[in-house]
Amino acid sequence: MENLDLQRLPKHIAIIMDGNGRWAEEQGQDRLYGHYHGVISVRKVVEAATEIGIQYLTLYAFSTENWDRPQAEVLGLMSLFVDTISKEVPDLHQNNIRLHFIGNLDLLPDEARQALASATHTTAQNTGLQLVIALSYSSRWEIIQAAKSLGAQVKQGTLDPAQIDETHFVQALSTKDFPDPELMIRTSGEHRISNFLLFQLAYAELYFTETRWPAFGKEAFIAAILDYQSRERRFGKTSAQINLNT
Ligand code: FPP
Repeated sequence: MENLDLQRLPKHIAIIMDGNGRWAEEQGQDRLYGHYHGVISVRKVVEAATEIGIQYLTLYAFSTENWDRPQAEVLGLMSLFVDTISKEVPDLHQNNIRLHFIGNLDLLPDEARQALASATHTTAQNTGLQLVIALSYSSRWEIIQAAKSLGAQVKQGTLDPAQIDETHFVQALSTKDFPDPELMIRTSGEHRISNFLLFQLAYAELYFTETRWPAFGKEAFIAAILDYQSRERRFGKTSAQINLNT
């Protein structure tokens, strides 16, 4: 941790938490056992992010595609979300952490929606880590929602289509209150973005690790940030231009 350059931390880190199922199978356990251990990793990473001073952390907890998993796993995950969120809110609140949820939350069972609404409300004034949980989320769904919302504004006559630019588009996304992630981490060896924040990750540094999510902790999180800090972010410019400005 002492090797981190605190002046060059990413403001926003996004994580695809992958490999719970494989980790569990490797232990001879069922998939839900992996998800339970995945929650322990969430806790470790949230603690580390708070300690380091990361401002935004987005975790991909459940994709739109995950609804197609066996019903027992989906039900198990839903009750894990409700239990974890309800149990962790007092601690998160005490640590000044604010919870946000993005995704097609209408698809969630009532009990889950109520738990999320309550957690969002309780932590709404917190100014520390902004913890964004993507649940029933897919980026294509989000982009289509944004297109619909802009279309409705055009129809109402409050928006001229010729004026639609990136700023308008960003305002129509569920992440409008957050800066784009500078670093995206995916665990468990898969080298894909899998319908996660496709618009927002345009300039993100991508970091892939073989480590399964339940085996991911503070050290692995810091290793990812150190790797990020070793890279040069050019945004389409030349290296010479970047070095001139620093
Ligand atoms: C991916 O592993 C993981 C998930 C689909 C669920 C992630 C959920 C948690 C870690 C719990 C988080 C809880 C809260 C409250 C944020 P996988 O099942 O796809 O693993 P596999 O690719 O090895 O099968």
